[in-house]
Amino acid sequence: MKFFLDTANLDQIRAARDLGVLDGVTTNPSLVAKEGREFRPLITEICSIVPGPVSAEVVSVTADEMMKEARELATLAPNVVVKLPTIPEGVKALKRCVDEQIKVNMTLIFQPAQALIVAKVGATFCSPFLGRLDDICHDGMALIHEIRQIYDNYAFDCQVLAASLRHPLHVVEAAKAGADVGTMPYDVFRKLLDHPLTTIGLERFLADWKKLDPKR
Ligand code: G3P
Repeated sequence: MKFFLDTANLDQIRAARDLGVLDGVTTNPSLVAKEGREFRPLITEICSIVPGPVSAEVVSVTADEMMKEARELATLAPNVVVKLPTIPEGVKALKRCVDEQIKVNMTLIFQPAQALIVAKVGATFCSPFLGRLDDICHDGMALIHEIRQIYDNYAFDCQVLAASLRHPLHVVEAAKAGADVGTMPYDVFRKLLDHPLTTIGLERFLADWKKLDPKR
C-alpha cells in the first residue's frame, strides 16, 4: 500500500518524507485554509518536496469552471493530480481531464456506484472517505472491500485511495482490504511506528549495554 499524507503543512510533509516511506500527498480546501497561505504557491512547494502525486482540489461546482481550475493546477508541477468532487458536473469534468491527459483524484466517494462510475470514466484515483462514514454509523471499511471487488472484477486500473483514515487500525484494515493507497494525517502516520513494547525493549537494551565493562 502506498502512504500519502493528508495535509498541506510543509513541516509535516518534510518530516514524513524524511522517514523514507512517503509516496504522495493529498490536500483539500479545508486543509489548505488551515495553513493561511496562497493556494497555488503552496501546492508548487509541496510538489517540490514530494516526488509522488500531490492532489490539489478545485473549488468550482460547474464542469466548465472546474476545467479552468484543473488546467491551471496541472501546470503547477508534473506531479499535480487534480481533485474533483464526485457530483455530475465533476464527472463531466473528469471526462474532459481524461481526454486532456490530466490526472484526476475523484473525492467525496461514499458509495460503490460512485466508485464504479469514476473508474469507468478514467479517474487515476478514487477516494472513499472511511472515517466520515464511520462517523454516521456506516461501515466505512465495507466500502473499501466493495470497491476493491468491483475494480478487480473488471480489471479497472483506477487506484483505491482510502481517505479519512483516523487511526492506525484504519490503515491496517484498509491495507488488508486491498486499498492501493492510504492517505492519513501526520499524527496517524507517526503512530504507525509506535508500540510500547518497542520503547520499553529499547530502553532495556540500552540500560543493559551501559552495564558492560567498557574494558571488555
Ligand atoms: O482529505 C480527505 C479526507 O482524508 C478528509 O478526512 O478526517 O476530514 O474526514 P477527514
